Amino acid sequence: MSDNQASLTAGGKSLDMPIKSGTIGPDVIDIRKLYAQTGMFTYDPGFTSTASCDSALTYIDGDEGVLLHRGYPIGQLAEHSSFMEVSYLLLNGELPSQQELADFSRTITRHTMLHEQLSTFYRGFRRDAHPMAIMCGVVGALSAFYHDSTDISDPQHRKISSHRLIAKMPTIAAMAYKYSVGQPFVYPDNKLSYTGNFLKMTFGVPAEEYEVIPEVEKALDRIFILHADHEQNASTSTVRLAGSSGANPFACIAAGIACLWGPAHGGANEAALNMLKEIGTPDRIQHYIERAKDKNDPFRLMGFGHRVYKNYDPRATVMQQTVREVFAALNVQDPLFETALRLEEIALSDPYFIEKKLFPNVDFYSGIILSAIGFPTTMFTVLFALARTVGWVAQWNEMISDPGQKIGRPRQLYTGPTQRDYVPLSQR
Ligand code: SDX
Repeated sequence: MSDNQASLTAGGKSLDMPIKSGTIGPDVIDIRKLYAQTGMFTYDPGFTSTASCDSALTYIDGDEGVLLHRGYPIGQLAEHSSFMEVSYLLLNGELPSQQELADFSRTITRHTMLHEQLSTFYRGFRRDAHPMAIMCGVVGALSAFYHDSTDISDPQHRKISSHRLIAKMPTIAAMAYKYSVGQPFVYPDNKLSYTGNFLKMTFGVPAEEYEVIPEVEKALDRIFILHADHEQNASTSTVRLAGSSGANPFACIAAGIACLWGPAHGGANEAALNMLKEIGTPDRIQHYIERAKDKNDPFRLMGFGHRVYKNYDPRATVMQQTVREVFAALNVQDPLFETALRLEEIALSDPYFIEKKLFPNVDFYSGIILSAIGFPTTMFTVLFALARTVGWVAQWNEMISDPGQKIGRPRQLYTGPTQRDYVPLSQR
């Protein structure tokens, strides 16, 4: 057996399987012929050891706490780049020239308006509807308004629908917030940056001028960068699986939003701030640490742990620094930040968290910043979805343009009843 082959003996059959290598990261064993040659499936609920695709977008080394987008470290992008530039990078593979960035930003800016009919769509929701429920509904409905860009076999359609999704998510998110607080929708302002425009549509009112605070604009733009893409996480895998059937991109992104909403995934930022509020003061931390360690208690430290990072999530590091910048810019103090810092310190010195390699993830600090900027807790995952849309769209494009792409269709280990005959009702 050569060193680029793995051999397996199962059911009296032995099979040599090719080992494939990427540019960096773990090799993979190509098991595509396994079932045909052994009659057996692999078994990997939760996909802890399964590579679902080839991708050149994002690389994560969970042990080293490394996150690269098209090879560029997240720390460098967070410090030097912008969300528009990172969006271009994810979509096109290279950092843009000044002209390319200007053209891309202008294209996105000119797609920020929503079809006017969609504003009546919002009026069908209850005012107290969770903004994520509204976002799922409105994004799914986009395919009812933009029929001219849903032919996924046409690269131009793919490009236009990708730009529309990236551009319209801030407008949809801001409108969901405005609807929940009973304020009028604020139209996009093409003079502003992508993030500045979102802040104005969210917090501006028609009755007066709105001044974007540069420090807040920069901090929120950096938060968007930190959330842009993250390899084959649950919501990205949902988008890829939905897209593998040929569904239109708007429907695929709506599916990703639905998956992201879960508290084990993007809903953790909302859950983490609610947890910090429930803990309240540092003296109550130990009680919650003990609950998190108790196998009989479903409570988990929200914002802690990660399927891939078994070291510090590099995004959490940037997030923690950003808290201090936003607090200084807004001259705010939030005792929950002290509680969060203390909780992190206590947890990271506790053998349970050390052994299980549970560190703060991207969601642990984001809620504190978003709350300081003025977003209600229910908007936190909406902002995650807003930023992750470029990652979902880039991953979807990568999949759809792969000539070897097939519909995703996993199998199962069947544990139900063996075949049996129907029993008439009169005999039951
Ligand atoms: C995101 O995949 C991504 O890339 C996601 C994301 C992205 O950018 O797309 O990074 C965004 O979703 C971040 C994660 C946000 N979720 C949370 O903060 C929720 C709290 N965290 C956990 O639910 C959990 O850590 C997960 C879901 C994040 C990861 O779960 P895994 O990989 O399935 O790990 P596991 O549940 O098997 O946990 C391993 C052990 C278990 O104990 P044992 O059964 O081995 O005894 O660690 C324990 C767990 O009980 N554990 C925790 C814990 N997280 C895991 N114990 C207490 N508190 C926690 N937060």
